[in-house]
Amino acid sequence: MRQDAHNSGDASAARCAGLRIGDMAPDFSARSTTGDVRLSDYRGRWLVLFSHPADFTPVCTTEFVALARAAGDFAQRDCALMALSVDSLFSHFAWLRMIRDRFDVEVRFPILEDPTLVIGRGYGMVAPGDSDSGAVRSTFFIDPEGVIRAMTCYPANVGRSTPEMLRMLDALQAVDKETSLAPANWQPGEALLGQPQADLDSVFAAQGEADWFLGKAGAGARR
Ligand code: BEZ
Repeated sequence: MRQDAHNSGDASAARCAGLRIGDMAPDFSARSTTGDVRLSDYRGRWLVLFSHPADFTPVCTTEFVALARAAGDFAQRDCALMALSVDSLFSHFAWLRMIRDRFDVEVRFPILEDPTLVIGRGYGMVAPGDSDSGAVRSTFFIDPEGVIRAMTCYPANVGRSTPEMLRMLDALQAVDKETSLAPANWQPGEALLGQPQADLDSVFAAQGEADWFLGKAGAGARR
């Protein structure tokens, strides 16, 4: 790894490369804090798969406390959580025990060990040529069919936002239900956008000059 990688947005972005939105999430099985897990066993529900650089580090600890506290919010959305790092299973156990004792919250979602980096490299969480095995903060939002629907990549020195992870899930689930679009800063309960018109007659027939591409969902706009 380059010396500056933890502070470099460019290095982090490069390490998120590989998989794309719309790809099937590659299957794997691994040992975890809740037993052996196989990604494909999660078909039929949403899954947030995320990597963290290392156990017993400050930002990662705050992320796990926040996610454990929000576990019920993810479950309400029929979404499982699955974490991964190169640390050993016994490191994970010791860390979770410390988190339970210090923060009074139990991390009950699986944390996978990936000692050979095979999963981390496959998902672009660790760059192929890196000598440093620490993963960046990659997050994959995987739908019930096993398709990657969104990805985020944060550097080691900035923690992820649990409310934004939940908002992403809400938005993905909402646009699926209505075949619609979620605008900037959309929050559950707010209006969604319709698909823009894609034929010239509809464009000319629309009332306002922008209505053909900037209409509310269900207002007649279609692809
Ligand atoms: C952290 O979680 O605080 C962290 C992890 C790896 C590098 C830098 C910070």
